[in-house]
Amino acid sequence: MNAVLTDDEIGILLTAAVHAPSIHNTQPWRFEVHGPVIDVLLDEERMLSVEDPSGRAAHIGVGAAALNVRVAAAMLGHESRLAVHPDPARQEVTARIFLANRNTPICGLSSLYGEVTRRHTYRGPLLDHPIPPQVRRQLDDAASAEGARLQWLDAGARNSLRTVLRQTDDLELHDEDRLHERHSWVGGDRSRDGVPQNALGPSPVRPALVRDLDAGFDETHRSQAVFETDPAIVVLTTRAEDATAWVQAGAALQRALLVATSYDLAASFLDQLLEHPGPRYQVRDLIGGRPWPQLVIRIGYPAQSNSHPGRRDWRDSFDQWF
Ligand SMILES: Cc1cc2nc3c(=O)[nH]c(=O)nc-3n(C[C@H](O)[C@H](O)[C@H](O)COP(=O)(O)O)c2cc1C
Repeated sequence: MNAVLTDDEIGILLTAAVHAPSIHNTQPWRFEVHGPVIDVLLDEERMLSVEDPSGRAAHIGVGAAALNVRVAAAMLGHESRLAVHPDPARQEVTARIFLANRNTPICGLSSLYGEVTRRHTYRGPLLDHPIPPQVRRQLDDAASAEGARLQWLDAGARNSLRTVLRQTDDLELHDEDRLHERHSWVGGDRSRDGVPQNALGPSPVRPALVRDLDAGFDETHRSQAVFETDPAIVVLTTRAEDATAWVQAGAALQRALLVATSYDLAASFLDQLLEHPGPRYQVRDLIGGRPWPQLVIRIGYPAQSNSHPGRRDWRDSFDQWF
């Protein structure tokens, strides 16, 4: 039976959606509700033309938002199904979630609802505690359930990644266009979108496997910290490399991050490695040369707390109600 959504339910579903991660907190999504169907559209005005010209990162954000809608729907008792690029006549509809009525909350996804607002990107130092193998397996299962894969790097691959990261960060520092674009979303005081200064975390005293989003800007006001020497690094991969795979990667990312949050794990990302073609191929080699890397994730138990970026109200990205 088709679900009839009340105004309150739409508010709950879309509030969950906008809590999804997105590159530089650009929130590159718009929503439409058509009866029991929720469409997530890519908002081209909120995409990064220099750092993300293909739209890979933006599509990942849309996939993550779609997964959050499904989690909230499950909590409300709606069964749901995700279709990616469902309408050839409307290419801008990137993800479509079909809802159906059900009387009891759906096990599995609904148990993740409490993590939607707890999950945040954490850019500070990690504790030196290993992630138990059974927790890793649950993260792997979460990503697989959405059609992507997590590949954990061993010590040798992490070492190689360090070298690629150093070279990439050097490229970044000398790329005026990238610095300029990043500066329009990162740093300073921001409450509704972008990444404010207070969410950047401390700057590492020594080179660390973390992305310093402030690199190349004025660092005088940042606190410093000693970071862990060898964090767990996992690469989110897909078999295909197209817009559909990117949306699936986003749903897989978010499902794995919500499971991680339920174990008090926190993650940050090294997306610069995948934004430059050369380093991306080097990362691809590190994971066997066949799958496509869609996000490089640093994950562990946070040693500190950190502030989080805000969001626009869901009504600001809500287009129509039929
Ligand atoms: C595809 C993608 C790439 C991202 N890349 C980075 C990155 O390279 N470095 C980083 O610190 N955060 C990165 N982020 C995290 C965003 O900055 C973060 O999700 C956003 O600021 C919202 O904050 P929150 O995750 O704390 O809610 C990325 C997020 C996504 C979805």
